[in-house]
Amino acid sequence: MQFRHLAWVMSSVMLVVSAEALAETPAKRTAEQIVNTVCAACHAPDGNSAITLNPKLAGQHPEYLEKQLAEFKSSKRANAVMSGMVAGLNDEEMKDLATYFADKKLTLGQAKTNGAGSLGEKIYRAGNATSSVPACAACHGPNGAGLPKQFPRLSGQHADYTLAQLKAFRTGERTNAPMMMDIAAKMSDAEMTAVADYIQGLR
Ligand code: HEC
Ligand code: HEC
Repeated sequence: MQFRHLAWVMSSVMLVVSAEALAETPAKRTAEQIVNTVCAACHAPDGNSAITLNPKLAGQHPEYLEKQLAEFKSSKRANAVMSGMVAGLNDEEMKDLATYFADKKLTLGQAKTNGAGSLGEKIYRAGNATSSVPACAACHGPNGAGLPKQFPRLSGQHADYTLAQLKAFRTGERTNAPMMMDIAAKMSDAEMTAVADYIQGLR
């Protein structure tokens, strides 16, 4: 009886082992495959998304993109759509995806009304001394190119996305950048709208 039981256990174990050996080891997915099957629908294959609430990823600093992906995954940056997208990605895939989009060429945009001499330009270059809003250029650079590893590129980003992020920093919906939460807390709606429009045309 005992022997039969042991034999049964042994054969079950062997069945499991052989089934695993037979199963094909899944081929490693390349960043391009993941982009084409998942990300492209919203961010476009080259990272220049057409829908203005989906950020352009092309030309963004890879360290920044990787940080965002990791923080969507850990929910440090809460977003229902993106947390679902990254749930199945491992660290290596997230790094590869960041490099993939960083290497793409950013398509620039145009400001609707905030060109030279506008409120948007004033906030971007000088801030607002009365309410202690610092100049965006101090960190994001005079052309909005940012600073690798520290400050993301802003130039050419969709105004609708930039405005949504500034509001999310102000309400505390986006909490993964304390510096930006402090700044957004001091900004008026009019300033946010103007600077987001200016950034869309910045180059
Ligand atoms: C269903 C649409 C959708 C899909 C598919 C999607 N994204 Fe997103 N993505 C968004 C939206 C919307 C945001 C803005 C989230 C927010 O408002 O915080 C975003 C934000 C991001 C950001 C942050 C960018 C920034 O400037 O901070 C990165 C990075 C990103 N997505 C990468 C990816 C990658 C990589 C994939 C594929 C694995 C992907 N996304 C798939 C909609 C999508
Ligand atoms: C003291 C430095 C500093 C200043 C000044 C600053 N920023 Fe930022 N900003 C940051 C950092 C750091 C991040 C990156 C947050 C992260 O890693 O998630 C950021 C992120 C952002 C983002 C999110 C980008 C994205 O792709 O989601 C926007 C939008 C933004 N800043 C707009 C502005 C505007 C507009 C101003 C001026 C009113 C400004 N920033 C001034 C440091 C700064």
